[in-house]
Formats: sequence, structure tokens, C-alpha cells
Amino acid sequence: MKKFFVIGNPIEHSLSPKLHNYWIKKNKIDAIYDKKKIDLDDLEKVISEMRNKNITGMNVTVPFKRAVIPFIDELSFEAKKTQSVNTIFTRGDKIFGHNTDIDGFVTAAKKLNYSFAKKKIFILGAGGVVPSLVFALKKLDVSEIIISNRTKEKALDVKKLFPEVNIIDWGNLVDFNVIINATSIGLKKEDKINLNFSKISKNKLFYDIIYNPEETNFLKIGKNLGNLVENGKLMFLYQGLLSFNLWHNMNINLDNDVLGLFSR
Ligand code: ATR
Repeated sequence: MKKFFVIGNPIEHSLSPKLHNYWIKKNKIDAIYDKKKIDLDDLEKVISEMRNKNITGMNVTVPFKRAVIPFIDELSFEAKKTQSVNTIFTRGDKIFGHNTDIDGFVTAAKKLNYSFAKKKIFILGAGGVVPSLVFALKKLDVSEIIISNRTKEKALDVKKLFPEVNIIDWGNLVDFNVIINATSIGLKKEDKINLNFSKISKNKLFYDIIYNPEETNFLKIGKNLGNLVENGKLMFLYQGLLSFNLWHNMNINLDNDVLGLFSR
């Protein structure tokens, strides 16, 4: 039986096992997908289990998407450019790292009744997922990307990877067409982002990377102000789908069963 894992810390709330085991069962694959909470010191050892084929594939989540890189033999162009790996697999003796968060976002964005092309995008946060968002937004042909993060140095780190992004100090708002919450504010239902959105006019898109809870206060505010809103559920499902198809050499689609499985 092939073994797959998602590694991270914390990992309790990861829905990846539910998603992958659903597809594994549905496609009658002899495999199991589990979660593993690890510390930074365990990374090398866990990845070496892929080298001796005890583990066939791994997803990587917060906070290890960058930290796994030294233990990987070859990175895809996307993983290298974003310095972020969420999917690990082997080919022959080599361990490969890829990033499906990018096309997860791109595919999810294309399913929306909204075009990102030539739009001005304002990203809140500069954590692990943000380089992938920037790469994805460039693929969607947006006109400008502005990042604001409480800790400015981390926004500047993203600018090192993508010099074309603009940075503004945390607490300020700019004019935008799309605002993306990529902070962890909202994971707890009562969390509120300390920004004053009241002067924002209608017909923007408020996008939250968080999908659990389904509607953060950020999305509630966006909706009440007359804007479109979208959570991170489709991005999550598509990044998982892309990993699944890569590992199992398949080409399945996202069907309504899966969408139902992840809505309350
Ligand atoms: P990591 O930073 O380890 O990659 P993450 O969950 O991907 O973790 O990112 C968390 C993001 O939420 C960061 O951008 C963080 O800002 P800092 O870089 O300043 O820590 C942001 N964040 C979390 N709590 C916040 C708060 N109360 N106010 C503003 N930003 C917050």
C-alpha cells in the first residue's frame, strides 16, 4: 500500500487527508493519506523516508514550505521562483518539489464569474502562501500587486522574489479592485482585521485564503459593503487535485461530490 502524508505544524485541522482519501477510495487506489505533525528538526528524516520509498508522496504546509527545500533534489520552475514547495514526489532516485498552490489559485480564480486581468490587487499578509499568490496573479495578467504586512521585512522578502510588487505600510489602505486576505486573521471566528474598510466603494472582490470558517469577518465586511466575496475553498481543492493527479498519474476533475463533502 502506498503511503502519503501532509506534514506541518500545527496539522490537526488539515482537511487534506479527507480530500485525498476520498479520491483514493473513489478511484480504487491501494493507498492511504495521513497527517504528520513534525518539528523543523524532523524534516530531513521524514523526507529521507521518501528516498527509501517508505513514503510515496507528501504535501507540505505551514510553516515548512520553504524549509523543505534544502532536502529536495530538484525543484520545479514554480517551486524555485516562489521558494515554496507544497508537493513532493520521487522519480527514480530523485526527490522532486513542486508548488500546486499557484495553479490551485489560478484554476479557482478562473471558475469565478470575475476576470482578474488588468486589475489592481491588494494583498494583506506576507506569509508562506503569498509568493504563490503573486506568481498566480501574474499568470492571471493583473496590472498591479500591492502587499501590506504587519512585519514589513517579510513583505520585502517577497519583493526580493518578485521585484515588481509594491509594498505599503501595514494600517494603510490603497485603491484596489481585488483585496486578498492572506493573513491568519480570521482562522478564529472572532478575529478582526484592524483596518478601516468603510470608505471602500462597491463592486470589488474580497478574497480570503481561509476556508474554515467559511465566512470570516473580512468576507462579512466585504459583503455588507456590496462587494463580491470568495473564500479559499476552491483554491484548497484544486491544489489538492493537482497533487493527486501528479502522484497517481491521473487526470480526474473536481466533481460536485467533493464540493458537497466540504460544504456545511
Ligand atoms: P508564516 O508567517 O510562518 O508564513 P502564515 O500563517 O503563512 O505564517 O502567515 C501569517 C500572516 O498573518 C503573516 O503575514 C502575519 O504577519 P506577520 O508577518 O507580521 O507576523 C499575519 N498576521 C497574523 N496575525 C496578525 C495580526 N494580528 N495582525 C496583522 N497581521 C497578522
